Amino acid sequence: MSSSSKQAKKLAVFASGYGSNLAAIIQYLDNHSINASLALVFSDNPEAYALERARKHNIKTCVMEPEDFKSRQDYDQNIAGVMETEQVDLIVLAGFMLLLSSWFVDRFKNRIMNIHPSLLPCFKGMHGISDAFNYGVKITGVTVHFVDGKLDHGPIILQKEVPVDQADTLSSLEEKVHKVEHKLYPEAIRFFCEDRLQIKERKVIITGIEKE
Ligand code: GRF
Repeated sequence: MSSSSKQAKKLAVFASGYGSNLAAIIQYLDNHSINASLALVFSDNPEAYALERARKHNIKTCVMEPEDFKSRQDYDQNIAGVMETEQVDLIVLAGFMLLLSSWFVDRFKNRIMNIHPSLLPCFKGMHGISDAFNYGVKITGVTVHFVDGKLDHGPIILQKEVPVDQADTLSSLEEKVHKVEHKLYPEAIRFFCEDRLQIKERKVIITGIEKE
């Protein structure tokens, strides 16, 4: 089957806040011929600016707040229901601040990606950029990985280094890291949409990369 006759992949982006990665993904999908569509932007936070960005691009949004559900399990089951109704192939976490349950992760095994603003496994958690900056590393970076049951832990798809210069402040470093994120995440998504990612234990093999 030629790649053009394959079914387009349906994506959902999960975002809790500003959504600059979402914006980069939208722009990438608009400007490149990639066999994918952004079916939905999901948020746990009705105030997320990411939702505003989605609406501006006429992308469907869905907001569910965990406190409106009787349990976390109930919440995750409802999110899964929406993903299944929308026939989502890939869930893209882009600044999504809730940890997904292992039930949810298993249900969408190897179909959830996350971006983290450090070179994992260093500086996991909420403050990857400032933790690296305060530690005094000379090189930090960005990691895109599949999500497994542990925080910032699943198989690594792409990593890109960001040098920390002597003149850098936290905010200049943040700017550099985000700039790299906005290039790296769409690239990883493209590989998924082209069926080029194979996972062997912890290793993600990207097929056809030698030609690029
Ligand atoms: C990014 O730095 C990402 O790596 C982290 O959360 C931040 C989200 O930023 N997981 P934005 O909402 O996409 O602007």
